[in-house]
Amino acid sequence: MNTTRGIWGGRLTRLFAAAMMGLAMGAVMAQAPAGRSPRLDMDKIFPPTGPGRNLVLNNCANCHTITPIVVIQMTRPARERWARDHRDRVGALTDQEFKVITEYLIKHFSPGQPIPQLPQELLDTWTNY
Ligand code: HEC
Repeated sequence: MNTTRGIWGGRLTRLFAAAMMGLAMGAVMAQAPAGRSPRLDMDKIFPPTGPGRNLVLNNCANCHTITPIVVIQMTRPARERWARDHRDRVGALTDQEFKVITEYLIKHFSPGQPIPQLPQELLDTWTNY
């Protein structure tokens, strides 16, 4: 569904993403302690190549899970567009920190890079609708 216009662009998508937030976070948190699925290897998903990694982990999974960050690959121009869209969503970060995040994402989540494996529960937090 929802394939005819920008998949992530619609107002409905935004509302839905906001509504999903609680559910999605629940899914992530339930996972580790319960051990229902293999533990996430966070070093594989977010290679520890610099400060961008922790900035992402600490600031980017409040509204949605890590799933869109990991599975959606963007060219530099697409990422720069994303950055303009997302800047205000992490208002507590400095411009410098946000730039570090943006460069980290370009380095690791651009077309041509291997997409880290995520458990189905996490994939479902982004693709289910
Ligand atoms: C205040 C809430 C919020 C925070 C914090 C947030 N996001 Fe998002 N993000 C969203 C919403 C809502 C969407 C759904 C699409 C949209 O509205 O742009 C989204 C979508 C995305 C997407 C999919 C592509 C797109 O733009 O739709 C990516 C990638 C992403 N976010 C990465 C991040 C990263 C990286 C961070 C940390 C810098 C982050 N998000 C922090 C709310 C947030």
